[in-house]
Amino acid sequence: MVNSLSPEVRRVVVLGTGGTIAGKAASSGDNIGYTAGQVGVADLLGGIDAPTGVALVAEQVAQLDSKDMSFDTWQKLAQRCAHWLAQADVAGIVITHGTDTLEETTFFLHSVLSATKPVVLTCAMRPATALAPDGPQNVRDAISVASTPGARGVMAVCAGTIHGGLDIQKTHTYRLDAFASGDAGPLGYVEEGEVRLVRAWPEAAASQVSKIFDAAAVQWPRVEIVMSHAGASGAVVEALVQAKGVDPLRGLVLAATGNGTVHHALEEAALKAQADGIAIVRATRCVNGRILPKAGDQFRDAGALTPVKARIALMLELLG
Ligand code: SIN
Repeated sequence: MVNSLSPEVRRVVVLGTGGTIAGKAASSGDNIGYTAGQVGVADLLGGIDAPTGVALVAEQVAQLDSKDMSFDTWQKLAQRCAHWLAQADVAGIVITHGTDTLEETTFFLHSVLSATKPVVLTCAMRPATALAPDGPQNVRDAISVASTPGARGVMAVCAGTIHGGLDIQKTHTYRLDAFASGDAGPLGYVEEGEVRLVRAWPEAAASQVSKIFDAAAVQWPRVEIVMSHAGASGAVVEALVQAKGVDPLRGLVLAATGNGTVHHALEEAALKAQADGIAIVRATRCVNGRILPKAGDQFRDAGALTPVKARIALMLELLG
Protein backbone atom coordinates (compact mmCIF):
# COMPACT_ATOMS: atom_id res chain seq x y z
CA MET A 1 0.00 0.00 0.00
CA VAL A 2 1.81 3.12 -1.19
CA ASN A 3 0.40 6.61 -1.25
CA SER A 4 1.40 8.80 -4.20
CA LEU A 5 5.15 9.26 -3.93
CA SER A 6 6.82 12.65 -4.22
CA PRO A 7 10.52 13.26 -3.52
CA GLU A 8 9.86 14.44 0.04
CA VAL A 9 7.67 11.46 0.96
CA ARG A 10 9.38 9.02 3.30
CA ARG A 11 8.32 5.39 3.45
CA VAL A 12 7.57 3.34 6.54
CA VAL A 13 7.61 -0.37 5.75
CA VAL A 14 5.23 -2.57 7.75
CA LEU A 15 6.31 -6.21 7.86
CA GLY A 16 3.64 -8.71 8.96
CA THR A 17 4.46 -11.89 10.86
CA GLY A 18 1.05 -12.87 12.33
CA GLY A 19 0.09 -12.90 16.01
CA THR A 20 -3.09 -11.97 17.85
CA ILE A 21 -2.99 -8.61 16.15
CA ALA A 22 -3.83 -10.56 12.99
CA GLY A 23 -6.07 -13.02 14.83
CA LYS A 24 -9.71 -13.88 14.26
CA ALA A 25 -12.33 -15.17 16.73
CA ALA A 26 -15.82 -16.45 15.99
CA SER A 27 -17.44 -13.64 17.99
CA SER A 28 -16.50 -10.06 18.81
CA GLY A 29 -16.85 -10.75 22.54
CA ASP A 30 -14.15 -13.43 22.48
CA ASN A 31 -10.71 -12.07 23.32
CA ILE A 32 -9.00 -15.41 23.98
CA GLY A 33 -10.57 -18.14 21.83
CA TYR A 34 -9.17 -16.93 18.51
CA THR A 35 -6.75 -18.18 15.89
CA ALA A 36 -3.65 -16.01 15.58
CA GLY A 37 -2.16 -15.00 12.22
CA GLN A 38 -5.24 -14.84 9.98
CA VAL A 39 -5.45 -11.26 8.70
CA GLY A 40 -2.92 -10.02 6.13
CA VAL A 41 -0.71 -7.08 7.08
CA ALA A 42 -2.10 -4.88 4.26
CA ASP A 43 -5.58 -5.34 5.79
CA LEU A 44 -4.25 -4.42 9.25
CA LEU A 45 -3.32 -1.05 7.79
CA GLY A 46 -6.83 -0.60 6.39
CA GLY A 47 -8.24 2.13 8.63
CA ILE A 48 -4.93 3.73 9.57
CA ASP A 49 -3.96 7.16 8.28
CA ALA A 50 -0.22 7.58 7.86
CA PRO A 51 1.38 10.73 9.32
CA THR A 52 1.76 13.60 6.85
CA GLY A 53 4.57 13.00 4.37
CA VAL A 54 4.73 9.27 5.12
CA ALA A 55 3.78 6.48 2.71
CA LEU A 56 3.14 3.00 4.05
CA VAL A 57 4.43 -0.15 2.37
CA ALA A 58 3.06 -3.53 3.54
CA GLU A 59 4.94 -6.81 3.20
CA GLN A 60 3.95 -10.20 4.61
CA VAL A 61 7.05 -11.99 5.90
CA ALA A 62 5.27 -14.75 7.84
CA GLN A 63 1.81 -15.54 9.17
CA LEU A 64 2.09 -17.46 12.42
CA ASP A 65 1.28 -17.68 16.09
CA SER A 66 4.49 -16.37 17.62
CA LYS A 67 4.74 -19.32 20.02
CA ASP A 68 5.79 -21.17 16.85
CA MET A 69 8.43 -18.64 15.82
CA SER A 70 11.32 -20.31 14.00
CA PHE A 71 14.95 -19.42 13.42
CA ASP A 72 14.36 -19.45 9.67
CA THR A 73 11.63 -16.81 10.05
CA TRP A 74 14.01 -14.76 12.17
CA GLN A 75 16.62 -14.98 9.44
CA LYS A 76 14.14 -13.93 6.76
CA LEU A 77 12.91 -11.07 8.95
CA ALA A 78 16.46 -9.85 9.59
CA GLN A 79 17.21 -9.98 5.87
CA ARG A 80 14.04 -8.06 4.95
CA CYS A 81 14.82 -5.45 7.62
CA ALA A 82 18.37 -5.03 6.30
CA HIS A 83 17.02 -4.70 2.76
CA TRP A 84 14.51 -1.99 3.65
CA LEU A 85 16.80 -0.11 6.05
CA ALA A 86 19.28 0.30 3.17
CA GLN A 87 16.71 2.20 1.05
CA ALA A 88 17.39 5.94 1.31
CA ASP A 89 13.71 6.95 1.38
CA VAL A 90 12.76 4.46 4.10
CA ALA A 91 12.39 6.25 7.43
CA GLY A 92 11.84 3.11 9.46
CA ILE A 93 10.25 -0.30 9.79
CA VAL A 94 7.25 -1.55 11.76
CA ILE A 95 6.86 -5.27 12.42
CA THR A 96 3.49 -6.68 13.49
CA HIS A 97 4.12 -9.69 15.74
CA GLY A 98 2.49 -11.92 18.34
CA THR A 99 3.06 -10.91 21.94
CA ASP A 100 4.20 -14.31 23.17
CA THR A 101 7.73 -14.26 21.76
CA LEU A 102 7.88 -10.58 20.85
CA GLU A 103 10.65 -9.98 23.37
CA GLU A 104 12.75 -12.72 21.74
CA THR A 105 12.36 -11.39 18.20
CA THR A 106 12.98 -7.83 19.39
CA PHE A 107 16.16 -8.89 21.17
CA PHE A 108 17.28 -11.01 18.21
CA LEU A 109 16.87 -8.10 15.78
CA HIS A 110 18.48 -5.73 18.29
CA SER A 111 21.47 -8.07 18.34
CA VAL A 112 21.92 -8.58 14.61
CA LEU A 113 20.78 -5.38 12.88
CA SER A 114 22.83 -2.27 12.48
CA ALA A 115 19.68 -0.22 13.01
CA THR A 116 20.63 3.39 12.45
CA LYS A 117 16.94 3.87 11.66
CA PRO A 118 14.03 2.73 13.85
CA VAL A 119 12.77 -0.86 13.72
CA VAL A 120 9.59 -0.97 15.79
CA LEU A 121 7.79 -4.17 16.69
CA THR A 122 4.16 -3.98 17.68
CA CYS A 123 1.40 -6.36 18.64
CA ALA A 124 -2.03 -6.69 20.23
CA MET A 125 -3.51 -8.54 23.17
CA ARG A 126 -6.93 -8.72 21.50
CA PRO A 127 -7.68 -10.21 18.09
CA ALA A 128 -8.57 -8.08 15.10
CA THR A 129 -12.20 -9.22 15.43
CA ALA A 130 -12.57 -7.94 19.04
CA LEU A 131 -15.21 -5.40 20.00
CA ALA A 132 -12.42 -2.99 20.92
CA PRO A 133 -9.19 -4.27 19.35
CA ASP A 134 -5.96 -2.71 20.59
CA GLY A 135 -4.01 -3.53 17.41
CA PRO A 136 -4.91 -0.50 15.26
CA GLN A 137 -3.78 2.04 17.89
CA ASN A 138 -0.58 0.07 18.54
CA VAL A 139 0.19 0.00 14.81
CA ARG A 140 -0.50 3.72 14.50
CA ASP A 141 1.77 4.42 17.48
CA ALA A 142 4.50 2.22 16.02
CA ILE A 143 4.27 4.10 12.71
CA SER A 144 4.65 7.36 14.63
CA VAL A 145 7.85 6.08 16.23
CA ALA A 146 9.17 4.65 12.95
CA SER A 147 8.68 7.99 11.21
CA THR A 148 10.08 10.18 14.01
CA PRO A 149 13.17 12.04 12.74
CA GLY A 150 16.31 10.92 14.59
CA ALA A 151 14.76 7.73 15.94
CA ARG A 152 16.97 4.64 15.75
CA GLY A 153 17.43 1.14 17.12
CA VAL A 154 15.22 -1.89 17.62
CA MET A 155 12.33 -1.44 20.02
CA ALA A 156 8.70 -2.38 20.59
CA VAL A 157 5.58 -0.31 21.09
CA CYS A 158 2.55 -1.56 23.00
CA ALA A 159 -0.20 0.32 24.84
CA GLY A 160 1.44 3.68 24.17
CA THR A 161 4.77 2.66 25.70
CA ILE A 162 8.11 2.29 23.89
CA HIS A 163 10.36 -0.50 25.16
CA GLY A 164 14.00 -1.08 24.16
CA GLY A 165 14.96 -4.40 22.57
CA LEU A 166 17.37 -5.18 25.38
CA ASP A 167 14.88 -4.63 28.17
CA ILE A 168 11.40 -5.62 27.01
CA GLN A 169 9.60 -8.50 28.72
CA LYS A 170 6.03 -9.72 28.51
CA THR A 171 4.79 -9.48 32.08
CA HIS A 172 1.05 -9.99 31.84
CA THR A 173 -1.09 -12.73 30.31
CA TYR A 174 -4.18 -10.66 29.58
CA ARG A 175 -3.96 -6.89 30.10
CA LEU A 176 -3.53 -4.64 27.11
CA ASP A 177 -0.43 -3.11 28.72
CA ALA A 178 1.32 -6.48 28.84
CA PHE A 179 4.99 -5.42 28.65
CA ALA A 180 7.56 -3.88 30.96
CA SER A 181 11.19 -2.81 30.69
CA GLY A 182 12.34 -3.89 34.15
CA ASP A 183 14.87 -1.77 36.02
CA ALA A 184 15.75 0.17 32.86
CA GLY A 185 12.24 1.52 32.39
CA PRO A 186 10.64 2.35 29.05
CA LEU A 187 12.32 4.42 26.37
CA GLY A 188 9.30 6.69 26.16
CA TYR A 189 5.66 7.01 25.28
CA VAL A 190 3.51 7.78 22.25
CA GLU A 191 0.81 10.34 22.91
CA GLU A 192 -1.56 11.42 20.13
CA GLY A 193 1.03 10.53 17.51
CA GLU A 194 3.88 12.36 19.29
CA VAL A 195 6.85 10.58 20.80
CA ARG A 196 7.87 11.60 24.33
CA LEU A 197 11.30 10.11 24.92
CA VAL A 198 12.48 9.60 28.51
CA ARG A 199 15.70 7.71 27.66
CA ALA A 200 18.08 7.82 24.70
CA TRP A 201 17.23 5.77 21.60
CA PRO A 202 18.86 2.33 21.80
CA GLU A 203 22.35 2.01 20.37
CA ALA A 204 22.64 -0.15 17.26
CA ALA A 205 24.21 -3.52 18.04
CA ALA A 206 27.98 -3.52 17.73
CA SER A 207 28.33 -7.00 16.30
CA GLN A 208 26.40 -8.47 13.41
CA VAL A 209 26.50 -12.12 12.51
CA SER A 210 27.15 -11.88 8.78
CA LYS A 211 26.01 -15.46 8.12
CA ILE A 212 22.44 -14.44 8.92
CA PHE A 213 22.50 -11.98 6.04
CA ASP A 214 24.75 -13.84 3.58
CA ALA A 215 23.79 -17.50 3.85
CA ALA A 216 20.62 -18.92 2.34
CA ALA A 217 20.17 -21.14 5.38
CA VAL A 218 21.97 -21.04 8.69
CA GLN A 219 22.88 -24.09 10.76
CA TRP A 220 21.61 -22.77 14.10
CA PRO A 221 23.52 -24.16 17.09
CA ARG A 222 21.33 -26.12 19.49
CA VAL A 223 21.10 -24.25 22.79
CA GLU A 224 18.61 -25.30 25.47
CA ILE A 225 17.33 -23.75 28.70
CA VAL A 226 17.13 -25.67 31.98
CA MET A 227 15.56 -24.14 35.08
CA SER A 228 17.04 -24.52 38.53
CA HIS A 229 14.36 -25.03 41.19
CA ALA A 230 13.69 -26.77 44.46
CA GLY A 231 14.35 -30.50 44.08
CA ALA A 232 16.17 -30.10 40.74
CA SER A 233 18.39 -32.92 39.44
CA GLY A 234 20.92 -33.42 36.69
CA ALA A 235 18.58 -35.67 34.71
CA VAL A 236 17.38 -32.99 32.28
CA VAL A 237 20.95 -31.97 31.40
CA GLU A 238 21.96 -35.58 30.89
CA ALA A 239 18.89 -36.20 28.69
CA LEU A 240 19.65 -33.11 26.61
CA VAL A 241 23.26 -34.12 26.11
CA GLN A 242 22.33 -37.66 25.12
CA ALA A 243 19.25 -36.80 22.99
CA LYS A 244 19.10 -38.69 19.69
CA GLY A 245 17.63 -37.37 16.44
CA VAL A 246 18.53 -33.72 17.11
CA ASP A 247 21.68 -31.67 16.54
CA PRO A 248 24.34 -32.11 19.20
CA LEU A 249 23.90 -29.80 22.18
CA ARG A 250 26.24 -26.80 21.85
CA GLY A 251 25.05 -24.61 24.67
CA LEU A 252 22.95 -24.54 27.80
CA VAL A 253 21.38 -21.63 29.64
CA LEU A 254 20.75 -22.29 33.31
CA ALA A 255 17.71 -20.30 34.44
CA ALA A 256 19.24 -19.75 37.83
CA THR A 257 17.71 -18.65 41.11
CA GLY A 258 18.33 -15.18 42.57
CA ASN A 259 21.82 -13.88 41.92
CA GLY A 260 22.66 -16.81 39.66
CA THR A 261 22.63 -19.72 42.10
CA VAL A 262 22.08 -23.26 40.82
CA HIS A 263 20.81 -26.36 42.67
CA HIS A 264 23.85 -28.49 43.54
CA ALA A 265 22.60 -31.56 41.62
CA LEU A 266 21.95 -29.54 38.47
CA GLU A 267 25.25 -27.72 38.94
CA GLU A 268 27.13 -31.02 39.03
CA ALA A 269 25.59 -32.16 35.72
CA ALA A 270 26.18 -28.75 34.14
CA LEU A 271 29.84 -28.74 35.24
CA LYS A 272 30.30 -32.12 33.59
CA ALA A 273 28.65 -30.82 30.40
CA GLN A 274 30.90 -27.74 30.52
CA ALA A 275 33.97 -29.95 30.89
CA ASP A 276 32.76 -31.87 27.81
CA GLY A 277 32.76 -28.63 25.75
CA ILE A 278 29.17 -27.42 26.06
CA ALA A 279 28.93 -23.65 26.61
CA ILE A 280 27.10 -22.93 29.86
CA VAL A 281 25.65 -19.53 30.83
CA ARG A 282 23.62 -18.59 33.91
CA ALA A 283 20.70 -16.16 33.59
CA THR A 284 18.51 -15.21 36.51
CA ARG A 285 14.89 -16.36 36.87
CA CYS A 286 14.16 -13.06 38.64
CA VAL A 287 12.02 -10.63 36.68
CA ASN A 288 14.16 -7.64 37.64
CA GLY A 289 17.83 -7.11 38.42
CA ARG A 290 21.02 -8.62 37.06
CA ILE A 291 23.44 -11.30 38.14
CA LEU A 292 26.36 -9.72 39.98
CA PRO A 293 29.39 -11.94 39.37
CA LYS A 294 31.54 -12.97 42.31
CA ALA A 295 34.76 -14.81 42.98
CA GLY A 296 34.44 -18.58 42.62
CA ASP A 297 31.59 -18.57 40.08
CA GLN A 298 31.79 -21.81 38.11
CA PHE A 299 29.82 -20.59 35.10
CA ARG A 300 29.73 -17.24 33.35
CA ASP A 301 26.58 -15.17 33.65
CA ALA A 302 24.31 -13.27 31.29
CA GLY A 303 24.07 -10.10 33.38
CA ALA A 304 20.57 -8.68 33.11
CA LEU A 305 19.46 -10.88 30.20
CA THR A 306 16.51 -13.16 30.87
CA PRO A 307 17.00 -16.87 30.11
CA VAL A 308 15.29 -16.62 26.69
CA LYS A 309 17.44 -13.64 25.70
CA ALA A 310 20.59 -15.26 27.11
CA ARG A 311 19.83 -18.24 24.88
CA ILE A 312 19.66 -16.02 21.80
CA ALA A 313 22.90 -14.27 22.79
CA LEU A 314 24.63 -17.63 23.24
CA MET A 315 23.31 -18.95 19.92
CA LEU A 316 24.61 -15.85 18.13
CA GLU A 317 27.95 -16.17 19.90
CA LEU A 318 28.27 -19.81 18.83
CA LEU A 319 27.16 -18.90 15.31
CA GLY A 320 29.57 -16.01 15.02
C1 SIN B 1 1.07 -14.83 19.46
O1 SIN B 1 2.02 -14.57 20.20
O2 SIN B 1 1.20 -14.97 18.22
C2 SIN B 1 -0.29 -15.06 20.02
C3 SIN B 1 -0.52 -14.29 21.27
C4 SIN B 1 -0.50 -12.81 21.10
O3 SIN B 1 -0.14 -12.24 20.07
O4 SIN B 1 -0.91 -12.14 22.09
